[in-house]
Amino acid sequence: MHLAVFLLASVLSAATFALDNGVMRTPPMGWLAWERFRCDIDCKNDPKNCIRQNLFIDMADRLSEDGWRELGYVYVNIDDCWSSMERDENGRLQADPKRFPGGIPKLSRYLHDRGLKLGIYGDMGTHTCGGYPGTTLDKIETDAQTFADWEVDMFKFDGCYSNATEQEKGYPLMSKALNATGRPIGYSCSWPAYQGGLPPMVNYTQLGEICNLWRNYGDIQDSWDSVLNIIEWFFRNQDVLIPAAGPGRWNDPDMLVIGDFGLSKDQSRSQMALWAIMAAPLFMSNDLRTISSEARSILQNKMVISINQDPMGIQGRRIVKEKSDIEVFWRPLSSDASALVFFSRRTDMPYRYQTSLSKLNYTTGSYKIYDVFTDKTMILKDSTNFVVSVNPTGVVMWYVSAPSKLNRLQFYRGGNVQDSVYTGDENAIPRVFL
Ligand code: GLA
Repeated sequence: MHLAVFLLASVLSAATFALDNGVMRTPPMGWLAWERFRCDIDCKNDPKNCIRQNLFIDMADRLSEDGWRELGYVYVNIDDCWSSMERDENGRLQADPKRFPGGIPKLSRYLHDRGLKLGIYGDMGTHTCGGYPGTTLDKIETDAQTFADWEVDMFKFDGCYSNATEQEKGYPLMSKALNATGRPIGYSCSWPAYQGGLPPMVNYTQLGEICNLWRNYGDIQDSWDSVLNIIEWFFRNQDVLIPAAGPGRWNDPDMLVIGDFGLSKDQSRSQMALWAIMAAPLFMSNDLRTISSEARSILQNKMVISINQDPMGIQGRRIVKEKSDIEVFWRPLSSDASALVFFSRRTDMPYRYQTSLSKLNYTTGSYKIYDVFTDKTMILKDSTNFVVSVNPTGVVMWYVSAPSKLNRLQFYRGGNVQDSVYTGDENAIPRVFL
């Protein structure tokens, strides 16, 4: 081969190896079946809740008719237990014919017609975690092509029933195979969760090159214990995880369980607020047909969504951990804005936490504060001491902008911003939003 042609060919093959599919420049949002509906395939006795075509159509209808889609919740993701126990005569995966009578293509058409996207699930290994056919190394290209033919938009690649060596080959190979189909397919890798989530077993630079998002840690369950455990792991390891995240590549602390059975109102706000601080994918796993208006308003809060979706895509961090069990989290946002979350791990009563913006590393004068869950605004000087009242297992969340940079705020409040400016004695402590 001529040297120039050889060089060009090597550059091109290197280029196709990096994940350059252009999708998920902000964290993906949508709905995912697993946590709420699991592997319920008993359609005879539980027709409303079993994993079948109708469940996904129901959720698609709710997403497009109840205001979710406009807020960015566009993915409808199938998880485990969708397929037939056997591959077809050509070795391709096929949906269970009884539960998905139109096959996956029918579902993807239904979703695309409504401006939604379809996600599907597979497993790097001999079987999925639920015991359905897996994708062994020799099947990777076939399965990638099948998903592209079905016009799937996202693929979650789980890791049950494979070892570290197989995963090291399989996850990059699937990335390459998805890219080679020419269809932009968001790629969610469970790989790090199977390798303990931390270096040296996990190479976050490589993950950012081959996957759009990745599960770092264990499965979420419908309980506050589970949510708290995940929060603890992600912020304990924040110095490793933060540099890995950015447009097109996200850490995934797993689904939102807001609207299910395990979380109180305050705990639901805490999950939403901290997932926004983490720049986490927002995949709800709940029943959108019966969700309470309280849960819906938390999930549909425009300000917290806009913080989650900030275009800079910088993952936030814990900046304060008090002996009193109050923690403060911070995320830098575009337009010199930022988000603050005051979180209480206490279980006694609302805690009156006193601090100031300068104690939280803010230095340049006055800031405009917008309380995300109460819609109240105020101006606060960096040197002014204030008190926030944080409920047990709950949060107070602020969007903080310099007074001159209110564009986004005004956009979300229809340009009708009303300030409650603190003008009192400098040495007195304003009771913020009490
Ligand atoms: C694993 C994954 C879950 C879910 C199940 C399905 O446990 O981590 O998110 O996909 O498998 O069996």
